[in-house]
Amino acid sequence: MSILDEDLARFAGRTVAITGGAQGLGRAMAERFAAEGASLALIDVNGDSLSACVDSLGSDYGVAVSGDVVDVTDSAQVREWVDAVTGRNGRIDVLVNNAGIIRDNRVENITDEDWHAVLDVSLTGAFTCARAVFPGMRRNGYGRIISFASMSWRGNFGQANYVAAKAGIVGLTRALALEGARDGITVNAIAPGLIETPMLASMDARARELLTKKIPMRHTGRPSDVAEGAAFLASEAAGYITGTVLDIDGGISIGSSIR
Ligand SMILES: NC(=O)c1ccc[n+]([C@@H]2O[C@H](COP(=O)([O-])OP(=O)(O)OC[C@H]3O[C@@H](n4cnc5c(N)ncnc54)[C@H](O)[C@@H]3O)[C@@H](O)[C@H]2O)c1
Repeated sequence: MSILDEDLARFAGRTVAITGGAQGLGRAMAERFAAEGASLALIDVNGDSLSACVDSLGSDYGVAVSGDVVDVTDSAQVREWVDAVTGRNGRIDVLVNNAGIIRDNRVENITDEDWHAVLDVSLTGAFTCARAVFPGMRRNGYGRIISFASMSWRGNFGQANYVAAKAGIVGLTRALALEGARDGITVNAIAPGLIETPMLASMDARARELLTKKIPMRHTGRPSDVAEGAAFLASEAAGYITGTVLDIDGGISIGSSIR
């Protein structure tokens, strides 16, 4: 049975593509977009979680959902996926560059492999997916690209690789915003704070505890808090907003030392 609310169907007729859609924020956003009528094209490297997610979204919301095992670091796979979705649905209206990983360590202990892995998934993956959808969005004169930075983009201890990748997302967002502006394509970033997902659960417990105490609202965020922001940036109503970074973080990025 569809639980689509007809009064809140901002994405009916739209195709929303989400990377890293099998769990965490990707899945929460998929649910938010599905609840508003979007057709979904999800990719992830975790095939089992992805198919469970696709099955439950299809039956809960009654919308078309595809799930493909695609690694965002493989540009040939990404291109094939974008071509297949465009062939099937006619267009991709919204791309959410959500896939990301952490490999935290002090700088002297970050291996070459961990440096490249984090940059490849978060930053190069976002570039590769954006490059693949751009021509179609330009042809349609419409597009929304949302990429995931993090509160860490401003700097964080023990995360040189992640910080570099997420600051790179901010730069990429601003550059692509300029390239899309004349063709109805908006490009924005979201910088979440501490949000309750499997990624947060994998973070060092002590770092997590210290950080939670620094949140002015004194609690971590829910994936649905982030999904609300993404749905707004992806909506037609946000058409004059481009090149921005939306902090969704309970105030942690405000910067005052008195909290
Ligand atoms: N949770 C937080 O507190 C938080 C805070 C700031 C930023 N973020 C960012 O938000 C995004 C989502 O985070 P999350 O907490 O949901 O993470 P998560 O680890 O729970 O989910 C990430 C998903 O991406 C997938 N993925 C990993 N590598 C991939 C690849 N190469 N190709 C395709 N998919 C891949 C994973 O399999 C997983 O399903 C990430 O970019 C993360 O850096 C999260």
